[in-house]
Amino acid sequence: MTERGNFGTKIGVVLATAGSAVGLGNIWRFPYMTGQDGGAAFILVYAVCILLLGIPGMVAEFVVGRHGASNAVRAYYKMGGRWWSAIGYMGTVTSMIILGFYAVIAGWCLQYLVASFMGNLHGDTNYVATYFKTFSSDPWQPLLWTIVFIVITHLVVIRGVRKGIEKFSNALMPILFVLLLVIVVASCLLPNAGKGVEFLFKPDFSRMSQSVLLDALGQAFFSLSLGTSCLCTYASYFSRQTNLLETAGQIACVDTLIAILAGLMIFPAAFSVGIRPDSGPSLIFITLPNVFQQAFSPSLGYVVAILFYALLALAALTSTISMHEIGTSFFYEELHISRRRGAIIETVVCCAIGVLCSLSCGAVDISLFGKSFLDCCDFLTSNILLPLGSFFTCILVGWVVPRRVVKEEMSNWGTLRVSVYAVWLFIIRFISPACILLVFLHQMGFV
Ligand code: PHE
Repeated sequence: MTERGNFGTKIGVVLATAGSAVGLGNIWRFPYMTGQDGGAAFILVYAVCILLLGIPGMVAEFVVGRHGASNAVRAYYKMGGRWWSAIGYMGTVTSMIILGFYAVIAGWCLQYLVASFMGNLHGDTNYVATYFKTFSSDPWQPLLWTIVFIVITHLVVIRGVRKGIEKFSNALMPILFVLLLVIVVASCLLPNAGKGVEFLFKPDFSRMSQSVLLDALGQAFFSLSLGTSCLCTYASYFSRQTNLLETAGQIACVDTLIAILAGLMIFPAAFSVGIRPDSGPSLIFITLPNVFQQAFSPSLGYVVAILFYALLALAALTSTISMHEIGTSFFYEELHISRRRGAIIETVVCCAIGVLCSLSCGAVDISLFGKSFLDCCDFLTSNILLPLGSFFTCILVGWVVPRRVVKEEMSNWGTLRVSVYAVWLFIIRFISPACILLVFLHQMGFV
């Protein structure tokens, strides 16, 4: 078997894992979900999901991953035996589907990057909305960008864990954060921005939609990269000194902070320019170009737009790298081939899914259950497969694995005092599985 890499530094662990968590989920998906599902009330449910299900579930996945020190399928196998490796398989397939549709949106970012550079996004709200519609339903352009994005991911992943994944994440994450802050300030200074802030922070429960629970649950899992075996795969590169609980807490904080900042960047601006916040997936591609034009002087707006779409694409890249790594590590370790070849198999499969997703956005009618193929992939993975993956991981770690093994991982073999161990165990044994089950039953109309 090829020698496995690992993360070199403590900060590298946090930034790479946060790099996986922070991405389009925070900046694209969180705002549009919040817009569709009624604002602050959705955020409240989301925050409960992160605290109650997200952080404990993350730790459970870390336990499996670091213990297994291998790809996800093998790690689950080592933890629970043959049947439990199914969670690893499910995670690996889920991550391929996510990478497929995620690359389409990331490709849109690349297109917007080029368009901002060429000054093509200049015009009023209607102009930008039409630009988006025309571009996203074109058969070729978005498809090409999708493939370009997957190939870039491929090129980083084949460089390996330390030189590729860790190095990129360390450099990109801090820049993204600073730029977000600048745009938040600009957006909040626009006229009428206060309404957007209110929408984000003042809950109005009457605006909560029927699907808010499932959406918030799905968003929490998606945003933390939970339930795909991604965290399990990254944890296999953690050292024996990595404090699992602390790392999970830090990542959840960074991830939630960035999502809230993204909300603060978009809603005040959307309300200010009179764009409805419930326009769905296209929200950031229509609102933001307007914000940049209105909030800054023409030359500054030009630079900020370019920087923003570049960084958004880069934030997406640190996430796609983590999705790609799941399949790559599986293929090369299990098929006993080189890392390079493993990565090629993953890339080809994801490109195929990406092509279908891209075409389904308007060029060709590929729809299932009344949704476009892309929306279907998004719904199926985020709202069903990710919660299921996490559900079974909690059952495995909480009920099947010997307590001693779990305690050793949590306490780094007795060198750390983990005062909340009992609470965490209680949550993953009872609370998390029960909550996930309840949300599913609620969605199916049983409770
Ligand atoms: N968490 C990432 C985001 O918020 C998406 C992701 C999902 C990454 C699943 C890896 C695995 O954008």
